[in-house]
Amino acid sequence: MPDSAVVELTGPGLLLRPWRDADAPAVLAAWRDPAIAQWNPQGDPLDLAAARRWVRWRADWSSGGHVSLAVADPTDADTMLGSVSLHRISGGDASIGYWTVVAARGRGLASAAVRRLTEWAFADLGLDRIELCHAVANPASCRVAERAGYLAEGTLRQSHRYGDGRRYDEHLHARLATD
Ligand SMILES: CC(C)(COP(=O)(O)OP(=O)(O)OC[C@H]1O[C@@H](n2cnc3c(N)ncnc32)[C@H](O)[C@@H]1OP(=O)(O)O)[C@@H](O)C(=O)NCCC(=O)NCCS
Repeated sequence: MPDSAVVELTGPGLLLRPWRDADAPAVLAAWRDPAIAQWNPQGDPLDLAAARRWVRWRADWSSGGHVSLAVADPTDADTMLGSVSLHRISGGDASIGYWTVVAARGRGLASAAVRRLTEWAFADLGLDRIELCHAVANPASCRVAERAGYLAEGTLRQSHRYGDGRRYDEHLHARLATD
């Protein structure tokens, strides 16, 4: 697993960079967005200390189980616009997750970030398969999956409990290194 400090991924209008302590206030603001609270709920209390712990955990890839990058403004790397990460990395498999801040939505940023991290993970981490799950009730996330090349594989029934405490059906999408 590379050191997160040396990984920076770019593309047209895209910068994925390591998480920094200074991102904590913006992370806390993002968590307070109702859509992120619903579809990417945090276990911790929503306060600055929890956000600081979160960015440090996301910046530390030493467990080998995750790689996580901040989506930043390519013209101002200090401005955090979102999150993209691979979890449950094991035996060539992983799962991908993401969110973007309200002000950055609707311009293809999440799709580009998912696509870029996926391509890097196949090339540099040697992964074989990455899964992407989203609630059927979250159609914007389904579009991100489709736009990032994740094929739909089926519907998981009542498979995950989201921020409101209810279980939701989810679509399972995946990409293979050989796709
Ligand atoms: C889902 C999310 C990551 C999308 O981020 P984004 O940067 O706006 O994504 P993109 O611009 O790449 O693509 C969004 C797509 O969803 C579509 N979309 C947005 N709202 C939608 C809605 N209510 N219904 C259907 N499609 C919707 C957009 O039109 C766009 O598709 P298009 O390019 O075909 O027009 C963002 O809305 C978010 O962070 N939501 C809250 C947290 C979340 O849902 N995380 C994912 C958990 S699996």
